[in-house]
Amino acid sequence: MFDHNKYRPFAAIQKADRKWPANRIEATPNWCAVDLRDGNQALIEPMNVSQKQKMWQLLVDIGFKDIEVGFPSASQTDFDFVRWLIEENQIPDDVTIQVLVQARDELIERTYESLVGAKQAIVHVYNSTSPVQRNKVFKLDKQGIIDIAINGAKKVASEANKYPNTKWTFQYSPESFSSTETDFAIDVCNAVINVWQPTPDNKAIINLPATVECAGPNVFADQVETFCEGVSNRDSLVISIHTHNDRGCAVAAAEMAILAGADRIEGTLMGNGERTGNMDLITMAMNLYSQGIDPQLDLSDAKRITRTVEECTNIPTHARHPWMGDLVYTAFSGSHQDAIKKCLDVQTENEPWDVAYLPIDPKDIGRDYQSVIRVNSQSGKGGVAYILEQEYGIQLPRWMQIDLSQKVQKISEGGGEISSQRIYEIFKQEYMHSNGPLELLDYDIQAKGENGSKNMHIQLQNEHDNIRIESQSDGALEAFCNALTQYLDMSIDVIQYSQTSLGTHTQSSALASLEITISGQTFKSCAIDQDSLKASFMAIITACNRHLSQQPLALKIL
Ligand code: KIV
Ligand code: ZN
Repeated sequence: MFDHNKYRPFAAIQKADRKWPANRIEATPNWCAVDLRDGNQALIEPMNVSQKQKMWQLLVDIGFKDIEVGFPSASQTDFDFVRWLIEENQIPDDVTIQVLVQARDELIERTYESLVGAKQAIVHVYNSTSPVQRNKVFKLDKQGIIDIAINGAKKVASEANKYPNTKWTFQYSPESFSSTETDFAIDVCNAVINVWQPTPDNKAIINLPATVECAGPNVFADQVETFCEGVSNRDSLVISIHTHNDRGCAVAAAEMAILAGADRIEGTLMGNGERTGNMDLITMAMNLYSQGIDPQLDLSDAKRITRTVEECTNIPTHARHPWMGDLVYTAFSGSHQDAIKKCLDVQTENEPWDVAYLPIDPKDIGRDYQSVIRVNSQSGKGGVAYILEQEYGIQLPRWMQIDLSQKVQKISEGGGEISSQRIYEIFKQEYMHSNGPLELLDYDIQAKGENGSKNMHIQLQNEHDNIRIESQSDGALEAFCNALTQYLDMSIDVIQYSQTSLGTHTQSSALASLEITISGQTFKSCAIDQDSLKASFMAIITACNRHLSQQPLALKIL
């Protein structure tokens, strides 16, 4: 039964003097990638050696300086991987590997064995502190939990003394911190800090996990701020945050924790991790980037990141994944497409990015504009116009865009997305193609008299003959229509006319677009030619042919 009475609201701490809401994130935190440990522990099939190596290389190339590489006392594969990293000299000088271990003597000893020969390393020890863990799992009171933490901290310090050639950093996590009474979490951590005696030059890392996300990110920020205010030796600590995503707010919680005083963030690429995942490092880093903050991570090769994560985790990337999904720079809705096109048209290189519906420039992460706009039956004129312009260099006047998008919409209603090639085919079929009998072979215009009137000779091919017709008028289009009017015995009026270039140099072709009425019937037609006037005449001929093809008698006359 779906019964909410089964659950209790989270007992949030009371904090009236919270300062974090008024703070801003102004710099990137230190990052720690835990894909090879927490992410790996959550996989149906944990990574094999080559997957671990691939993930490691990606994390190093992106620029992570702290990388948790495994749980060597719990897994032989992890132990061997740590040995491979050290023995094969895989760790750049500015990268520190981190390994996790429970607060148990024999496991801590084994962990140090895995690290022999490392230039520097973080030993990350943890034990659970929340009431449910104390009461139901460990069946220990608060002092019992503090004792586990103190013993673990002592063992971590004493084992480190055996390997003086390595620069050691100690990290402690009160596992399930966010479900622990904050004052008790402070007590446990203070006990650990008392053992380690960190200094501002030799800091310890205190990592605060939302092992299970049980409350909103604002509640977590209150907990972190309270912790930072109460913990001893704050200036000798790096406060690290490790959020999980059970309520979908792991990134929000991590960001708010930074506002509340944290210095460091642990997470995984694309958020792989236990249950609903770890905090997504990519999302948080891109969030910062989009606010003008350098995340100090190179995320420009988004394709490599998503492909590698997919290969190593066997988890596909959701098409709507923040920043990285296949569809996140694609607009289907007509009004979105229209707005994007208008903004992109005026966006210049040197000014801040300001494009509706696109919070970043997709190019920054190796995506392109062509995939920004795709067309289906939801799309309006903006999308269709954008595709024709970007892929075929065709700039249509607004009245033509509206007409074409209606035709495209009608055709796409039965199916899904419609390709740019299909849009171009529809455009040609609807406006450039005709089965009629007339073809423009040549024309010649001469100015006649001082009033600028034109004398025009036109050479046409009809079904049977090559014919010449002639007329005069003030304008070339008018003269052309007059000649056809006489020859075909039909009224021909140009209602709208537009001419654009299909390229940037003088040799480029011109596109003529016309709306024209022929004996009361309206047609829209286009033609392309290097001679812009000829393109206009061809468009008129296309419209005439369409009219004639509906008039069998007239065809016979020709
Ligand atoms: O989620 C968690 O609490 C952890 C700790 C071991 C840091 O992964
Ligand atoms: Zn975790």
